[in-house]
Amino acid sequence: MSRVADKVVLVTGAGSGIGRAAAKLLAAEGATVIVSDINQSGGLETVHRIGGRARFLLHDTAQETDWKRIIDDILAREGRLDGLVNNAGIAGPFPSTFESETVEQWQRILSINVQGVFLGCKHGVPAMRGSGGGSIVNLSSLAAFLGTPDLSAYGASKGAVRQFTKTVAIDCARKGYKVRCNSVHPGVILTPMGEGILPSDRARERMRKHIPIGEFGAPEDIAYGILYLISDESRFVTGTELVIDGGMNAI
Ligand SMILES: NC(=O)c1ccc[n+]([C@@H]2O[C@H](COP(=O)([O-])OP(=O)(O)OC[C@H]3O[C@@H](n4cnc5c(N)ncnc54)[C@H](O)[C@@H]3O)[C@@H](O)[C@H]2O)c1
Repeated sequence: MSRVADKVVLVTGAGSGIGRAAAKLLAAEGATVIVSDINQSGGLETVHRIGGRARFLLHDTAQETDWKRIIDDILAREGRLDGLVNNAGIAGPFPSTFESETVEQWQRILSINVQGVFLGCKHGVPAMRGSGGGSIVNLSSLAAFLGTPDLSAYGASKGAVRQFTKTVAIDCARKGYKVRCNSVHPGVILTPMGEGILPSDRARERMRKHIPIGEFGAPEDIAYGILYLISDESRFVTGTELVIDGGMNAI
């Protein structure tokens, strides 16, 4: 159980769902995990469930001042940063079509889902370079590949994350930074976010029929992909898209 032994990894939005599962798995595989979230009780619960090798930092990923504080704190206490999982995200009110979406909703979703990822890369890369290199995993979505009529700003935000990930990957590779950057694209995963989008049994059953494998994914299914991309097993992988969706994107 040492696929990421001795690595220091920051997981944003780790107080719930996919981030919590990733933080637990990374710690179980030997990493020291910094659990960050805007939700203090959720983040502390994740640290409690890990039971060692983890600590919590309150963090709003949309705020640049927060990123500076978090990265400085990690470098001061752990002395290095080897991995960053830009997982924090919101889906906003559901449904939100392009006709019903307000400018305030649109900006809020993009400020967390896109600006938060941009700031993570901007401040995470120098810290990783100073640690001899590292790996960034950005949580995009199946929504980056498809039209999402009921989640218009969310789909746009995840398309931006998919594209921006490649920009960071190529820029870092060309500059010899030894920092890799990849995106992960979950299908429908039953987390608080996933359940919010599918509130009734009827809606879930309708959605389930569209998943070739025939069932929803669990947060751990995504966490295993994140673990691979953070580990050195993926040392030759950068700028790629790891789709974990029960086959939906292949139809
Ligand atoms: N659940 C799915 O079906 C699904 C599918 C595709 C992509 N994703 C993506 O996976 C990621 C995790 O989603 P999840 O399903 O675990 O959602 P979730 O709602 O269970 O967890 C998201 C976490 O992010 C935190 N967060 C929100 N805004 C924040 C901010 N500004 N700063 C710091 N933390 C913040 C929340 O407090 C929460 O703990 C998101 O980026 C989401 O878009 C999820």
